[in-house]
Amino acid sequence: MASESLHPASAPSRRTVVAAVGAAGIAITLNACSSDDGASSSSGASLAKTSDIPEGGGKIFKDEGVVVTQPTAGEFKAFSSKCTHQGCAVTGVTNGVITCPCHKSEFSVTDGSVKKGPATQALPEEKITVNGDSIALA
Ligand code: FES
Repeated sequence: MASESLHPASAPSRRTVVAAVGAAGIAITLNACSSDDGASSSSGASLAKTSDIPEGGGKIFKDEGVVVTQPTAGEFKAFSSKCTHQGCAVTGVTNGVITCPCHKSEFSVTDGSVKKGPATQALPEEKITVNGDSIALA
């Protein structure tokens, strides 16, 4: 009988643990965006403040699928944030180019044109309107 003294006794509770984690997951529905006025159209909804967009750079808006840039002071542009190579979402704007993390394509912040492959097509331009210091998708 003494030979069974090392038998592990921890197995039976595993199912209980999984169930608890499942319940906790439901609570994680944090949506950081503060605007929930129920507008179903993005038209006119403010996307950003002009001061959010660095001059010579830009900012990516994941939920809207756009990247807004300011190539020169006071000039704002927007492009689709979907890479024309294989459809990854671009993730960065540095040194005047929008970069795709998947295969390192680079696109100009000025007109979305390809600066570096493998992508061969420019990012399509998106329409925006600038009203005072507020940028909205047109
Ligand atoms: S999907 Fe963007 S570089 Fe390949």
